[in-house]
Amino acid sequence: MNHIDKASLSFDELDELNNPRPSEQEFDRVVERAISRRGFLGGAVAFGSAAMMMGTSVLYSGRAEAASRFGFAPIPTSTANTITLPDGYNWQVLVRWADPMWSDGDELDMATGGTGASQAKAFGDNTDGMELFVFGDKQILAINNEYIQNKVLMTNRADGLPTNEDDVAKVKAAHGVSVIEISEADGSWSVVKDSPFNRRITMETEMEVRGPAAGHDLLKTAADPDGAKVLGTWNNCGSGRTPWGTYLTCEENFNGYFGSSDQAIEITDGWQRYGIGTESRYALDKFDPRFDLAENPNEPNRHGYVVEIDPLNPDATPIKRTALGRFKHENAALVIATDGRIVVYLGDDERGEFLYKYVSNDKFVEGGDNSKLLDEGTLYVAKFNDDQTGEWLELTPASTGMSEAEITIFTRMGASKVGATTMDRPEWVAVNPGRVEAYVALTNNRNRGVKPNAGGDPTPVNGPNPREANNYGQIVRWRPDNADHAATNFTWDLYVMAGNPEVHTDAYGGSENVTAGNMFNSPDCVAFDSRGLLWILTDGNYSNEGDFAGQGNNQMLIGDPVSGEIVRFMVGPNECEVTGLTWSADRRTVFVGIQHPGIGDNGAFPDGAGLPRSAIIAIRRDDGAILA
Ligand code: FEO
Ligand code: CA
Ligand code: CA
Repeated sequence: MNHIDKASLSFDELDELNNPRPSEQEFDRVVERAISRRGFLGGAVAFGSAAMMMGTSVLYSGRAEAASRFGFAPIPTSTANTITLPDGYNWQVLVRWADPMWSDGDELDMATGGTGASQAKAFGDNTDGMELFVFGDKQILAINNEYIQNKVLMTNRADGLPTNEDDVAKVKAAHGVSVIEISEADGSWSVVKDSPFNRRITMETEMEVRGPAAGHDLLKTAADPDGAKVLGTWNNCGSGRTPWGTYLTCEENFNGYFGSSDQAIEITDGWQRYGIGTESRYALDKFDPRFDLAENPNEPNRHGYVVEIDPLNPDATPIKRTALGRFKHENAALVIATDGRIVVYLGDDERGEFLYKYVSNDKFVEGGDNSKLLDEGTLYVAKFNDDQTGEWLELTPASTGMSEAEITIFTRMGASKVGATTMDRPEWVAVNPGRVEAYVALTNNRNRGVKPNAGGDPTPVNGPNPREANNYGQIVRWRPDNADHAATNFTWDLYVMAGNPEVHTDAYGGSENVTAGNMFNSPDCVAFDSRGLLWILTDGNYSNEGDFAGQGNNQMLIGDPVSGEIVRFMVGPNECEVTGLTWSADRRTVFVGIQHPGIGDNGAFPDGAGLPRSAIIAIRRDDGAILA
């Protein structure tokens, strides 16, 4: 501030100027640094040191140079009901909800949303996390089908709720995971129908339970007295992959599927902490006692895990890896520590919940027996200090007073006991392949500084969560000590605070790498490409009004971790969330999920006529060049 017109300040502001608070809060300085982009972590441990040394001007005068690194001219926001891309790029639909994966499957009946039988042979609804696997010359995509658009799936039913057993079968079959072989011919991608790799995993697929919770009394039900075999996976949100070639699918809002035939049933602490109550989302409890708390009180304890799937063996039984904890899992970002142990970063996406890390006991051995690496290890939860240091707090019987099994079943309660930092909804974590650092998207949190989390933990405005009633979100990154992801200490900073600089001039305007030209809200899916650039996908407010004026539809941006620059690459159609990202083996195509698109002035995405359909799109350069 070179010149201050004191007369125009409010009395409060003037008071502040004349009588600065005796001790400036450390997080104020973090916010200031993020806004100005001066001194990210400062000195020797600086992230983005080039940007820092060159001052803030690098973010703007360096745009042309940076744009050449990105390889395209950034696009403005859009409210069009289509995919908007930079010049020189094109897109096509790879697969839509209800597209048959086998040649004896039926095409979607737009009048009914299909049947249980047609859905069982078709791609699931609400595409989310995905990973590509290569087997010889085959490319196989494993893709989450997170939840359903019930009023679309059951367009023929009042309120989109099931009325008979076939509706229930359709709901169950639309969830889970779809594994598809894909192929490219003449510049166009398609699903290989009848491929031996094609597989549907649904709410009824049998799974094994492994790790500390396997066989525990809390997992036993009448149908499974051993507590070792569970039917199904649902609300599969983000994804992950292991170095031994398997797919990780992460169960997020599993709680909403349970209800109770006894409305007076006492809600236990364990149910309460995980948001389990007497009312279910899709009324499955009215048809299947597995979802009725009064009948099967332990069933919820069998969900909320990370599930490992072998995408190349359609006969392999999926495995619920309880050692990775039970919460509303977003994704599983796996990296190998300096000594060969496996580290998995895990977010719990709920207001005021936590960020976790798992470290295996044993080391990864290429081609060896790695089957216990996700069963035997230690869970940690993050504590962020306002001085930009942090530590991973162990969740052990000694630190929590809980047994190993209880820690993996009621992980949130264990984390509350050790004093972890409540976060602004941790969504995806991405590990930078080029530098020893990781990023987490904290999507937003209207309760920050307003109310505690479900366990009663306070949500003070603090370093990594620096704005009260945070409606824009931020991306926090950390660098582990000794350049080792297994280290228990780290330093951190804010890579970006999303905001609206057209509406706000304070911290809600965002950090300096947020401009009128690239602004967005609610970062969610994040992933690094092979160049070390961070792709940022949003799941936010698309009203384009008020606090969100000028931000348009949900979108995809690309960030440079070094310069801090962020540019817009894609805008999705009306109402959609943009989520799930991976690349073809040759890196000439990027696959992106368009989840729950809506109906715009040109009809329903992507077909125009009929029902809107979640879809995976394939984006290529017109010249066919490598794009990531
Ligand atoms: Fe399924 Fe937190 O997103
Ligand atoms: Ca998400
Ligand atoms: Ca989200």
